[in-house]
Amino acid sequence: MRPLIAGNWKMNGVGESLAEICAVAQWIAETGPNADIFIFPPFTLVARAVVAASNRIGIGGQDCHALPSGAFTGDVSAEMLADAGATAVIVGHSERRQSCRLTDAMVAARTTAARRAGLLAIVCIGETAEQHDGGLAQNVVIAQLEGSIPPDANSTTTVVAYEPIWAIGTGRTPSLEEISRMHSCIRAQLEGRFGEDGSRLRILYGGSVNTTNAATILAAPNVDGALVGGASLRAGEFAEIVGTSTGSSSLRSPFAL
Ligand code: PGA
Repeated sequence: MRPLIAGNWKMNGVGESLAEICAVAQWIAETGPNADIFIFPPFTLVARAVVAASNRIGIGGQDCHALPSGAFTGDVSAEMLADAGATAVIVGHSERRQSCRLTDAMVAARTTAARRAGLLAIVCIGETAEQHDGGLAQNVVIAQLEGSIPPDANSTTTVVAYEPIWAIGTGRTPSLEEISRMHSCIRAQLEGRFGEDGSRLRILYGGSVNTTNAATILAAPNVDGALVGGASLRAGEFAEIVGTSTGSSSLRSPFAL
């Protein structure tokens, strides 16, 4: 499966940060990595990022409202993102689930909105530290998967990102065995629900992916890419992770790291 590497900038980036996107786009033009590459800058940069990416990187929003328009101060709809040139959107990121008190049903409605607007939805799921330590991770993830992915989802409109909350921004990652076990559990659920297409639906791992651990994580079975936070902010690190995903050492990043 062609890997998908996504950079989530979170609430980081101003105009001058677009130079990082230009640098990644330039690197892609020179090396032609065999991967789908997306960057999710803050809303304020989406339209300019689309220009900077020169069609080499997909640009997306970090969330969207379920409705196309209305009296929802501070929200942005999937249609607005598409209008700004975005081709994807992250929905149900744990930081949004928490700050906006999103339920699985609300995440599913946003996933549906993404499809309505023609955006690829990256749907995030993942357990808390307490749930992990209590041995509840698989049950939690199965329930989130069931509730957050609408029945009409398919492998061309939807990507799943497994992000254990305790691994986000902490420098801690699950063991390779834990990642493999969870990803095969997610795969089994997707196949159970969507049949053959469930085996084509990409499952990303996210949570403290960096240049050191990316190769090992991306080589694990049923890991079809990565959602990268902190390490996506600098072109050199991000390009190196993308190069790793293609399994080609010739794609090492040319940037000083
Ligand atoms: P991190 O963030 O790579 O900084 O841990 C990942 C994410 O939240 O998507």
